[in-house]
Amino acid sequence: MSLTNAPDPAARAAIVQQDLDNVLHPIVQHRALEKSQMVIAGAQGSTIRDADGTEYLDGMAGLWCVNIGYGRTELAQVAHDQMLQLSYFPHTAMNEPAAKLAAQLNGLMGGGYHTYFVNSGSEANEAGFKIARQYHKHESPGSYRYKVISRHYGYHGTTMTTLAAGGMGDRKSKFEPMDGNFIHVAQPTCYRCPFKLEYPTCELACVKNIENTVQAEGPESVGEIIVEPIMSGVGIAVPPDEYLPEVEKICREYGILLHVDEVINGFGRTGKMFGHQHYNVSPDIIAVAKGITSGYMPMAATVVKNDVFNSFLGEVADGRQVMQVNTWGGHAVAAAVAVRNIEIQLEEKLADRAAEMGKYLQDGLRTLFRHGVVGDVRGKGLLIGIELVTDRASKTQLPGPDVQAVMDFCRKAGVIFGRAGGGRMYSNTLTLCPPLVITRAECDRIVETLDRALTALGK
Ligand SMILES: Cc1ncc(COP(=O)(O)O)c(C=O)c1O
Repeated sequence: MSLTNAPDPAARAAIVQQDLDNVLHPIVQHRALEKSQMVIAGAQGSTIRDADGTEYLDGMAGLWCVNIGYGRTELAQVAHDQMLQLSYFPHTAMNEPAAKLAAQLNGLMGGGYHTYFVNSGSEANEAGFKIARQYHKHESPGSYRYKVISRHYGYHGTTMTTLAAGGMGDRKSKFEPMDGNFIHVAQPTCYRCPFKLEYPTCELACVKNIENTVQAEGPESVGEIIVEPIMSGVGIAVPPDEYLPEVEKICREYGILLHVDEVINGFGRTGKMFGHQHYNVSPDIIAVAKGITSGYMPMAATVVKNDVFNSFLGEVADGRQVMQVNTWGGHAVAAAVAVRNIEIQLEEKLADRAAEMGKYLQDGLRTLFRHGVVGDVRGKGLLIGIELVTDRASKTQLPGPDVQAVMDFCRKAGVIFGRAGGGRMYSNTLTLCPPLVITRAECDRIVETLDRALTALGK
């Protein structure tokens, strides 16, 4: 189907009925879906099209992932060719596309890494936790390091352990109690500092909180610290430049692995190929997903430093091999698509483009400070948050229905915004994470649409 396909109301109505009768959708209330359906039938560049013919500028690149934009027919060709050559064989054997992709990732990380393939960002982090646990069992048999330190309001996935690592109460509460070995520390959200301090006089109280927690827990029990370099789900939080290097220092001092979640930050999104590359750190475990295929195939990976990888080497009888397996890991078709997707990102210099367009879009959004409800505009590259407040001095959050009204106005005007998923604390923040191929004219349209929505809100 392409954008030129004519709308087909009867076919659309049939799809809606079939869906409502049979599908259980993630995280949306079906009663709301009945009223506000979208049946996405096609997409091109940064634009998606409903089966009724309505087009939307997709300010969220799907679910933070379609980095190279929609409708790249050459990826269909790559998938087609690879399927004919070899569709699938378990990754206990080798295949060409997965080997190529691992080499590509190793090069992008600066060398010295091996890659374990999985299928989603959650699984990439989960595999990382397991690799860290196994590593420490090998390397420090007398003093087992099993705890994970993570941040309040972080999001690392939807499985039970990634939820436990996450720090969003509303995502966890239905499934509690959680694994108690995930210990939460203060998040580096400067606009709403958990210590009510201001940078730089805060002297990075959030980092001190991490070190204090490590000491209180007993460093010999802590296996890893997981961080998303630029927190996204919480409404985009760019930490001070020293934050990640200081976290790395704590890891090195206490023998803790640094696990970086690049699921959203990765593949050019923030203006560099990976978020942590803004901060000159060298993580031990890196989870990648989403932009690795730009959504053209499900694929994700856990990339580990060779120091960690080497711990898994030995004779078969030693039992040091990675003690996990998944059916689709290293899938030949997904890997072939990922390889070409990353080549496109490099050929079209999309990380640089994210830096350039991100600045352009953020500059445009900052003109909206003329609306009293715009409390903060923040981000890096094309990962942007716009926090809405009732007044700037008190930073009181704009009530949920008003935030929803702004989003609904924009959607009706054909522009899709996201909304932070931090529950009570941050859900007054609109998010933008568009395809990295977004044009200046499209950036202008986002700003102009939000301007009109805020005017219509009249607050
Ligand atoms: C930072 C981060 N980590 C992990 C995940 C989980 O990825 P997935 O939904 O592919 O399991 C997400 C999903 O949005 C994410 O934002």
